[in-house]
Amino acid sequence: MKRTIKTLALAGLMVAAGVSGVVYTGMVNVAADDPHHALVHAFLTAARDRSIEIRARDIPVPPLDNAELIRAGAGNYDAMCVGCHLAPGMANTELSQALYPAPPNLSRQGVGGDPAAAFWVIKHGIKATGMAAWGKSMSDEHIWGMVAFLQQLPELDADDYRQLVASSDGHQHGGGESTSQGHEEEVAEEEGHGHGHAEGHAH
Ligand code: HEC
Repeated sequence: MKRTIKTLALAGLMVAAGVSGVVYTGMVNVAADDPHHALVHAFLTAARDRSIEIRARDIPVPPLDNAELIRAGAGNYDAMCVGCHLAPGMANTELSQALYPAPPNLSRQGVGGDPAAAFWVIKHGIKATGMAAWGKSMSDEHIWGMVAFLQQLPELDADDYRQLVASSDGHQHGGGESTSQGHEEEVAEEEGHGHGHAEGHAH
């Protein structure tokens, strides 16, 4: 028994030393333009999918077939999400093509068949990916609005999209947001849509 414990402790120490060595030599490349090894990628994807599946499975999904909810979601999506997740007829943005992992094109995939999982991801975000925890500033109701909108999004063409966004009240999410016009302008420009790039930004 004592011997087993000693052997295990020694093995543990060796693994720890190995891991420290890998860290110390700088072998781990954190560059976003250097894709993960296939095995690391498979591990991270499986861990993410399972993590979301388990946490989202007991979330009750409210009725999402509601025109008002969808409209509100369209305004928020356009203000906060298109810079990474795009919209019908929209070309890649600097963010959408440069982030790693790449943000999925939600104008094509919508909620991907699982509204509860989409709600969970939007509310809590995904660590170290660029996907923020929007629940820090948005109420659940407004997050469901975006889920309801995302369910419709793959069916919309560029004109439908623009009309739906124009008919919404724009950016609003029940606490946290600034109501000043300036804020909306700022978000639109930061995310590279709407008015296009700020003057002076050329490349
Ligand atoms: C700065 C870029 C960025 C912004 C802005 C952003 N996201 Fe994301 N989002 C991501 C990335 C990157 C992922 C994928 C993370 C991964 O692969 O693990 C993601 C994942 C998602 C997913 C899960 C999709 C899937 O198939 O797994 C949903 C749903 C989502 N985002 C919705 C939104 C909504 C709604 C907004 C606006 C409120 C938003 N995102 C804003 C970067 C962004």
